[in-house]
Amino acid sequence: MNLFDTHSHYNDEKFDLDREEMIRETLRSGVSNFIVAGYNVESSKKAVEIAQNYNELYATVGISPNDLDNIKSQEEIKENVEKIAQIPSKKIVAIGEIGLDYYWNKENKEIQKEMFAKQIELANKLKLPIVIHTREAVLDTLEMLKTHNVERKGIFHCCPLNRELVKEGLKLGFYISLSGVITFKNAKNAEEIIQMIPEDRLLIETDSPYLAPEPVRGTRNNSINVKYVAEKIAKVKNKTIEEIAKITNENAKKIFNI
Ligand code: NI
Repeated sequence: MNLFDTHSHYNDEKFDLDREEMIRETLRSGVSNFIVAGYNVESSKKAVEIAQNYNELYATVGISPNDLDNIKSQEEIKENVEKIAQIPSKKIVAIGEIGLDYYWNKENKEIQKEMFAKQIELANKLKLPIVIHTREAVLDTLEMLKTHNVERKGIFHCCPLNRELVKEGLKLGFYISLSGVITFKNAKNAEEIIQMIPEDRLLIETDSPYLAPEPVRGTRNNSINVKYVAEKIAKVKNKTIEEIAKITNENAKKIFNI
């Protein structure tokens, strides 16, 4: 099988003790490619460093809405986006994760929006797609995408199982990346959401080391577990897991221009 995990954080410190072994094991397990996603300047640099060592790995760079503790002014936004822009571009396939998160951060909505906008501009300048993180911010996220031109479009990473967001996101031309959340027993509308996504806009991911799917929920997640996400989708769409792997692999290569 050639599973493509479009979002992991093998740059996280939870992989510091066994990163190389874990990557090798992942690439032997039926996962042909995966993305290491940055979420601030340091983790973005690390994502690129890791990806440079393996043909099968790629990186995204960006500053997430949950990493703005030291970014409070226009100047600080500019400085930090500049640092992202200066990371050597080899192996960078998207700007992300970027977006809005009002679950963890309600106090700095304007800074979040400004940071999101500036990184959309960077993506356009570099001719890259964006990887969107959105939580409890459906309306503002959609508003941002409607009022800012995103040339290469992008991906809703770990897409919340929100009908409105998926519907409008698809209409705007974005891909929907589903994570282990769809396997959780309390994800009541997972099947409906899976059915809403046409095959040519569907992606799969783990968000490792977080969000381990059933039946390994609660453990440190890794990209090998993306098979459980594919398996759930296959069941709902009445396909084989191999078919879902093939479709989502082709979609990933298309959006990331690999
Ligand atoms: Ni992430």
